[in-house]
Amino acid sequence: MDKIVSLCRRRGFVFPSSEIYGGLGSTYDYGHYGVLAKNNIRSLWFSAMVQERDDIVALDSAIILNPRVWEASGHVAGFSDPLVDCRTCKLRFRADKLDEAQCGRKPSKRPGEHTECDLTEPRQFNLMFQTRVGAVEDASSVAYLRPETAQGIFVNFKNVLQIARRKPPFGIAQVGKSFRNEITPGNFLFRVLEFEQMEMEFFVPPDEADRWFEHWVQARFDWYLKYGLRRSKLRIREHGEEERSHYATATSDIEYEYPIGWGELEGVANRGDYDLTQHTEHSGTKLEYVGEGGERYTPWVIEPAVSIERIFVAMLADGYDEEEVAGRQRTVLRLHPAIAPVKAAILPLIARDADMVAHARSLYEELRTSHVVEYDDGGAIGRRYRRQDEIGTPFAFTIDEQTLEDRTVTVRDRDSLAQERLPIGGVVEWLEGALRQPWASPKAE
Ligand code: GAP
Repeated sequence: MDKIVSLCRRRGFVFPSSEIYGGLGSTYDYGHYGVLAKNNIRSLWFSAMVQERDDIVALDSAIILNPRVWEASGHVAGFSDPLVDCRTCKLRFRADKLDEAQCGRKPSKRPGEHTECDLTEPRQFNLMFQTRVGAVEDASSVAYLRPETAQGIFVNFKNVLQIARRKPPFGIAQVGKSFRNEITPGNFLFRVLEFEQMEMEFFVPPDEADRWFEHWVQARFDWYLKYGLRRSKLRIREHGEEERSHYATATSDIEYEYPIGWGELEGVANRGDYDLTQHTEHSGTKLEYVGEGGERYTPWVIEPAVSIERIFVAMLADGYDEEEVAGRQRTVLRLHPAIAPVKAAILPLIARDADMVAHARSLYEELRTSHVVEYDDGGAIGRRYRRQDEIGTPFAFTIDEQTLEDRTVTVRDRDSLAQERLPIGGVVEWLEGALRQPWASPKAE
C-alpha cells in the first residue's frame, strides 16, 4: 500500500487533503490523473447500469435531505459503531476493531494492552455528520450529510414510477458523494470520510427477489473481471445473520484482496420492502406499485452499492507492477485501457527536430478530439516511456526519422513492450480498435 500511496502522490493522482495545514485524517484530494481515472470508473459503471439497459433510469438527489428521511431509514437510531475512549492517551477506537488499532502510548501494542491504558465501556457513536439548515440554531434546524445515496432514491420512488412510467422489475441508479464520520482511520482511500458512492436500487416483485439478488451479485462480479481485476483476487462472501445491516434480509460482499488483506469492494443487499415501508409509514405517502388490473404490492429492493474509491484502490493495487527491463527498473500500472487516465502518448523522438515535432503535434491534435492523450517531448525517449508506464498509459506513438521518409510511426505496447509500425494516417482507427479489445492482466493470477 505504501508504494501505491507514494506513486499516487508522486504522479499527482491523489494528495492528502489540505496538506499545507497538516492534512485531515482520511480525506484526500484528486489531481489530474486521479480525476481522469475516477471519471472513467464512473462512466463505465453508468454505461453498464443505465446506458446499456432498458430497465434502469438515472437520478441525482440532494445531499442534504429532510432529516425525517434518516429517522425513517433507521440511520438516526442505528447507524453507529461501538466506540471506546482511552482516558490516558485520549484516543478513540472502534470497540470491534481493537485488534487492528495501535495503543496511543506504545504503537506496537493494542489498546488495552499497555499498563497505562484506561479504556471506557463501549458507547454507540453515530456515523452521520450533522449540520444545520437555516439561521437559527435549535433542534429543528439539525440536518445530516447523507451517509448513503440510497435514501434519495427511495424518497423519489413515486416520482420515477409515475413520470418514467416504469413497472417492477426496474431500477434507479445514482452516483454522488456520501459522508461518514469513520473512526477507524485510513488505509488510504479504502475508508474515507467522504466518498463517491455508486448505488442502484432495483425494485422487483417480492417473489422475484431471490432470483434478482443472485443476478446482481454475478453481474457485478463479472463487471470487475471485464475491467481487468484478477479472478484470484476477487471473491464473493455471504454475510452471516449477525453481520447484516438492519435493513437487509441477505447480503453478499464482493471482496478484493487489497494489500491490507481481503476487504469489501462492493456490497449487494436484498433490502426487502424495509425502506419503502418505512417511508410510507413516516411520510404518509404510499410507496407501492399498483398494476393495471388493480393489483398492488410494495416492491422488494436489490441493491448493488460501491464507492469509486474502493474500485480505484483495487485497480491500482491490481495493476501496480515493478520489473527490470534491459537492466533498468520500471514501475508500471497495468490498468485496463478503459480505466487508464491517458489512452496514448505521442512522442517526437527528437524534440529539436521541427519536422518530427510538426508530425507529432498534428497527430496529437487529431487524437485529442476523441481521447485523453498526452504530447511529451521532454527528455530521453526511455524516460518518457517510463513516465507513461507509471501512469498506466497503454500505448505510445513515436515519431522518428523513418516517419519523415515513409509516414509510419511506431506504437509501443505498455504491457508486452512490443513495438510495431503503422501508417500515421491509420493511427486513429488503430487506437479505436485497440481500446475496444478485451484486456486481461498479464500479471500472474
Ligand atoms: N446503501 C448501502 C450502503 O451504503 P455500505 O456497505 O455501508 O452499504 C456500500 O456501503 C459501499 O460503499 C461499500 O461496499 C464500499 O464500496 C463503499 N463505502 C462505504 N463506506 C466507505 C468509506 N468510508 N470509504 C470508502 N468507501 C466506502
